[in-house]
Amino acid sequence: MSVKIPAGLTDLLQSFTVEVLRKQPDDLVGFAVQYFRQLQASPPDGSGAGRSPRTVNFADEPMQTDSEDDEDDEEFEAPVKIRLTRRPSVCAEPFNPDEEEEDAESWVIHPKTDEQRRRLQDACKDILLFKNLDQEQMFQLLDAMFERFVEVGEHVIDQGDDGDNFYVIERGKYDIFVNIDGIQKCVGAYDEHGSFGELALMYNTPRAATIIATSSGALWVMDRATFRRIIVKNNAKKRRLYEEFVQSLPLLKSLELGERMKVVDVFGTKMYNDGERIIAQGDKADSFYIVESGEVRITMKHKAKPEADDGVEIARCSRGQYFGELALVANQPRAASAFAAGSVKCLVMDVQAFERLLGPCMDIMKRNIANYEEQLVNLFGTNMDLADRSV
Ligand code: CMP
Ligand code: CMP
Repeated sequence: MSVKIPAGLTDLLQSFTVEVLRKQPDDLVGFAVQYFRQLQASPPDGSGAGRSPRTVNFADEPMQTDSEDDEDDEEFEAPVKIRLTRRPSVCAEPFNPDEEEEDAESWVIHPKTDEQRRRLQDACKDILLFKNLDQEQMFQLLDAMFERFVEVGEHVIDQGDDGDNFYVIERGKYDIFVNIDGIQKCVGAYDEHGSFGELALMYNTPRAATIIATSSGALWVMDRATFRRIIVKNNAKKRRLYEEFVQSLPLLKSLELGERMKVVDVFGTKMYNDGERIIAQGDKADSFYIVESGEVRITMKHKAKPEADDGVEIARCSRGQYFGELALVANQPRAASAFAAGSVKCLVMDVQAFERLLGPCMDIMKRNIANYEEQLVNLFGTNMDLADRSV
């Protein structure tokens, strides 16, 4: 038996749900009576009963963020979609962020408790892809994300699939597998933080890797439409802003233009105040840095100079120079510390993007690493064997 859904019913119920979530009424039935009465009585152009309800436009009407009542929040699990549209098959869509009309995108809101929102904000605070967003975009992202729990062995993403979601890690460990010449190779892992699943959504390509949970965990999930509406659009702006700078970097000269633009897509910018520590010697490493403005002091503590409590300054990096590659290349703790000398702005890339995109730049990096050794012999009268450093 087929049931005909009356035209406008879905929109009507969605708009009503949005109002309930916004107003949080104690008396739901009373609120519903009032809502539908008002709707019926509202002036023409919608022309009374049977018309589609008004579209709620959150650009004019700011969405409620945190509820004052946690318990009530728990009841509202269903996402609310605003301005629904259908999208074509994922891989048929071109990558043209400038042409993506905000109004034509679906807008999803997953209500959360205050506690969930705090955890989500914490998980997102170091996500590089979110670093260049303004506050409003950030609120929209947080509204759209929802929590998903995963079990050991679960395939969160399978290489070759269409890209549906982007994931931010709340907790858990995840291995990254890439099919190389028909063999699945583990090329890296996420350990309790980070994000993945951006590539298929940015470039409309099939998933480039398989992600498998190696512990139980939790992820914050963002749907594809929200990712494209906010992140991909923002990346188009970022490309315009950074194209010239990235073209001028000697480190990236072995990359094709398209690959350089992919570097722009994945980095986040971070600001540091005078004296602020950017990297600590001995720490585990997960990022790579390029100086956009200001100056960075590289210092090293070393057994050969125990009197230098704060370490000895071994180098300075200014606009266009990079640091933080050594620990990633050598898979070792940070060899030195880095401090801002005055205000500093850096482009920051995570280790997964570094490995994926900067392979062709490895020769240049390795040549510089050879220079470090010489530098240290001059300064400390010894080579840079980790065992010689007092961390
Ligand atoms: P996506 O292709 O959408 O889905 C798989 C994800 O794995 C990918 O986005 C990246 O976020 C992540 N990933 C991490 N390391 C790699 C890698 N070396 N190659 C491809 N994808 C990777
Ligand atoms: P990494 O070890 O990841 O973090 C500290 C960074 O300091 C290091 O990478 C290099 O990028 C940078 N550095 C600059 N000069 C030296 C040097 N002589 N020895 C080691 N690291 C150096």
